[in-house]
Amino acid sequence: MKKNLQELDKKYLWHPYTQMKDYEERDLLMIDRAEGMMLYDTEGKSYYDTISSWWCILHGHNHPTVKTAIKKQLDRLEQVLLAGTSHEPAVLLAEKLIQLTKKHLTKVFYSDNGSTACEIAIKMSLQYWRHTGEPERTGFIGLERGYHGDTIGTMSLGGVPGFHGAFTNLLFDSHRVPSPYCYRCPMGTTREHCSIECIKPLEELLAEHGKKIAALIMEPLIQAAGGMIIYPAAYLEKAASLAKQHSIHLILDEVATGFGRTGKMFANEHVAVEADFLCLSKGITAGYLPLAATITTDEIYQAFYADYIEDKTFYHGHTFTGNPLAAAAGLGSLQVFDEEDPLAHITKIIPYLHERMERFTELPWVGDVRQLGMISVMELVKDKKSKESFRFEERVGWKIYLQGLKQGLILRPLGNIVYLWLPLCATREDIDEITERAWRVLSNKDNISGF
Ligand SMILES: Cc1ncc(COP(=O)(O)O)c(C=O)c1O
Repeated sequence: MKKNLQELDKKYLWHPYTQMKDYEERDLLMIDRAEGMMLYDTEGKSYYDTISSWWCILHGHNHPTVKTAIKKQLDRLEQVLLAGTSHEPAVLLAEKLIQLTKKHLTKVFYSDNGSTACEIAIKMSLQYWRHTGEPERTGFIGLERGYHGDTIGTMSLGGVPGFHGAFTNLLFDSHRVPSPYCYRCPMGTTREHCSIECIKPLEELLAEHGKKIAALIMEPLIQAAGGMIIYPAAYLEKAASLAKQHSIHLILDEVATGFGRTGKMFANEHVAVEADFLCLSKGITAGYLPLAATITTDEIYQAFYADYIEDKTFYHGHTFTGNPLAAAAGLGSLQVFDEEDPLAHITKIIPYLHERMERFTELPWVGDVRQLGMISVMELVKDKKSKESFRFEERVGWKIYLQGLKQGLILRPLGNIVYLWLPLCATREDIDEITERAWRVLSNKDNISGF
């Protein structure tokens, strides 16, 4: 039966972000069940889910409170359209999200994944300018190494050529400014001497084209998929202030950072910035079901609020927009925040994690260790001094992934970037165990290809 699953998988499934040929003669990791931080395969072997199942699991797998919320909802209403109809979980979750986010945010628009959360913000911004007498504002600015999803709109504003290069011909034109990538500073300076010179290209771009720009989109404090680039809060503050100065919208993509991962409920709480759109997904349901929210201001909402014949409706929606089961999971997750206070727990855990990660700086192939909240990142290099990267074809990340599995760890490096993206429920014991196993993988020269 177990063997059969492997065969059927290869026969019928095409996996995301996966070169299927890698599995020609290798089994996929067939997960059977999960509990807390652990995943168990069909052979009964356990693995630490160190990347929170693509950055979404918050309170661990199989949490009773979230599960109960979903089960209760399943007995009442599993799905209904959200156009012209509504339901309790969608309403109550929207109320809670508005209470949790900054005061100026007042309206929740649901969808069902992170890409659509951002795509909706992009479309709303464009349509807002059309409704408010500035239809020439059609330009968008994204950051190099930014990632906002895999739809055409979000790819058009993203900056990860490795992911989206094949689709260039499909994408619309948009502006790109350098990533505030401190380890490889675009301005050639160092963290010690930095005065956020890398904001200059954005300043210049806005000075020249500001009146034609609708919005700037960015991930606050960490560009995740683009290389786990943790950048100074001052960059975010300056970018937000430039957006305000030029009256363009600021879209903050908190799909990955939302719900505690950075140490605060939302990454934008680390700074005094006010986004016009806040995009949430992944952790919104603690990772249990697909849901997303694009949260915006009353000013934007009012620009669409008109008599029907004025044709100002926002024509966008997905079948599973605000699905009752997913919204119930969201409420269940927020109940865990209330009852167990994981944010208080991680204020003690984060310094411990960061300290435990410091030893990795000793390794000759670890060029940089950067950390934010429950996220710890190591950038592997061939040479610390020159910061020369491993080449694409060396597949260093793949090798580490395979070695991680042997140690009972799901590490899923992004190329040369090895990272932990831990759930809020991680304990000191988990961190000891994970960092020890990761050390075994990373300190072994044979595991680092080409070294
Ligand atoms: C910051 C950010 N935005 C958007 C997305 C896209 O989310 P999804 O994969 O749910 O479409 C991701 C996914 O990793 C992300 O990290």
